[in-house]
Amino acid sequence: MMSTHQIDLTTANALTAAYKPEPTPAVATFLMCPPKLYDVDYVINPWMAGNVHASSRTRAAEQWQRLYEAVSTIADVQLIEPQPGSPDMVFTANAGLERNGTVAISSFFHPERQGEEPHFRRWFHEAGYKVLDTPRATPFEGEGDALFSTDGTRLWVGYGPRTVASSHHPLRKVWGIEVTSLHLIDPRFYHLDTCFAPLDGGYVMYFPEAFDRASLDKIEAFYPPEKRIIVAEADAICFACNAINVDRTIILNNIGSDLRHKLEARGFDIIEVTLTEFLKAGGAAKCLVMKLSRPAL
Ligand code: ARG
Repeated sequence: MMSTHQIDLTTANALTAAYKPEPTPAVATFLMCPPKLYDVDYVINPWMAGNVHASSRTRAAEQWQRLYEAVSTIADVQLIEPQPGSPDMVFTANAGLERNGTVAISSFFHPERQGEEPHFRRWFHEAGYKVLDTPRATPFEGEGDALFSTDGTRLWVGYGPRTVASSHHPLRKVWGIEVTSLHLIDPRFYHLDTCFAPLDGGYVMYFPEAFDRASLDKIEAFYPPEKRIIVAEADAICFACNAINVDRTIILNNIGSDLRHKLEARGFDIIEVTLTEFLKAGGAAKCLVMKLSRPAL
């Protein structure tokens, strides 16, 4: 006598015939903003100091184009039009945080970037996403400060220079996910994505000195020693942790050969793209993209 959980072979064959393989997982998708109106117009982080109007728009355009081409080899890229008065809009990572078709739009800490919010909100609305606003009273700077672990079980959120810790609680509810707050203590690493990168295969690449001890304990509790890729200061200040990762490919600004070998030894293909013009505004590869869970409608 078969239990109700067993099926006979005829049924099994019929099921096999009816079986349709899962569609192959959607290609990764990123949102980018061409740097037609990019400039360093004000100082809201230490990298911008001394760099006001010091970047070349021609060079920035060339560097961005190379990044766009590199990202296009591993992902789909959607574009948002840059808007006058919002020179930092190229850093789409700060637009918000998106998962499963719902986006939490950023509330920028600095008034200089708050003008970007309606443009990003409109883009997401028109692209068919469910749009949630985050309160002005509790600044939240999107994916710049909020990164999912690669297995999707946890959301790491940075706080201190920009995002405030109390903005993390609603995120927990929005996606029903465990949220872990990390305190950023070095003004040079003012967004989480400047010093912390969850990578494929359960790895994490990070610059420990950017965090307080309690935060390091949380990182170390989640990632076992063999999964931690520690970045030295020389690479950290070249924005090595500001890395775009899709499967085994990592796209980042130029890094030292030691770090490159360390990553290659763990099976990653490294694509370096020179992004000096964007470093003048305090951003590099990962800041220039925002991960989307699906293409726009
Ligand atoms: N100038 C921009 C700012 O200070 C750079 C943003 C970099 N973005 C990032 N995701 N880390 O806000």
